Amino acid sequence: MVGTIRTWRLSDAADLAAALNNPNILKNLRDGLPYPYTLADAENYIRAMLGAEPGSQYAFTVDVNGKAVGSIAVFRQANIHFRTAELGYYIAEPYWGQGIGTKAVQQTCNYVFENSDILRIFAEPFAYNTASCRILQKAGFTLEGILRKNAIKNGEVLDMKLYSLIRE
Ligand SMILES: CC(C)(COP(=O)(O)OP(=O)(O)OC[C@H]1O[C@@H](n2cnc3c(N)ncnc32)[C@H](O)[C@@H]1OP(=O)(O)O)[C@@H](O)C(=O)NCCC(=O)NCCS
Repeated sequence: MVGTIRTWRLSDAADLAAALNNPNILKNLRDGLPYPYTLADAENYIRAMLGAEPGSQYAFTVDVNGKAVGSIAVFRQANIHFRTAELGYYIAEPYWGQGIGTKAVQQTCNYVFENSDILRIFAEPFAYNTASCRILQKAGFTLEGILRKNAIKNGEVLDMKLYSLIRE
């Protein structure tokens, strides 16, 4: 199955809330998302993405047959890193393992390199997150190193991996 990235619509909020109300997703993300994640939380996120300053971020849902099955975004960094951007993503669990995440990463990076001045896109999955590391590899990212003991998530000290994709 292949998804296609597209701009968020407010009507995607129920799909977004359903996807994010899942500890198997949240445990792989940074802290700060509410749990349970309500319809209002989803609507607020979508409004924020639609209202963001142009060029500051590139946020998409991943659409499969009209359903929003995931979220992917590239966030421009500040100061001397203004041509660097961080990539984040998740796919709703029922859709895992079908190549949707890989395609979404490829489509998003292509879009950003074609439509912005960003030179470098990086991602920092937890080192144990084999699926996320694998999709970055499949999308052509380079592993630049291990960020040792770089995070505390759910009370555990975790290594992260630093991957990047450079504009050719
Ligand atoms: C990471 C995530 C986005 C992957 O999405 P997906 O659509 O399932 O990814 P794909 O199907 O494109 O590819 C997954 C790859 O990982 C592999 N994989 C998955 N789980 C694995 C595991 N436990 N061990 C080894 N490989 C694994 C799959 O076999 C596949 O590789 P292959 O094509 O070489 O066989 C999804 O699992 C997710 O949303 N996880 C929770 C949130 C998250 O981790 N976000 C990223 C934060 S950095």
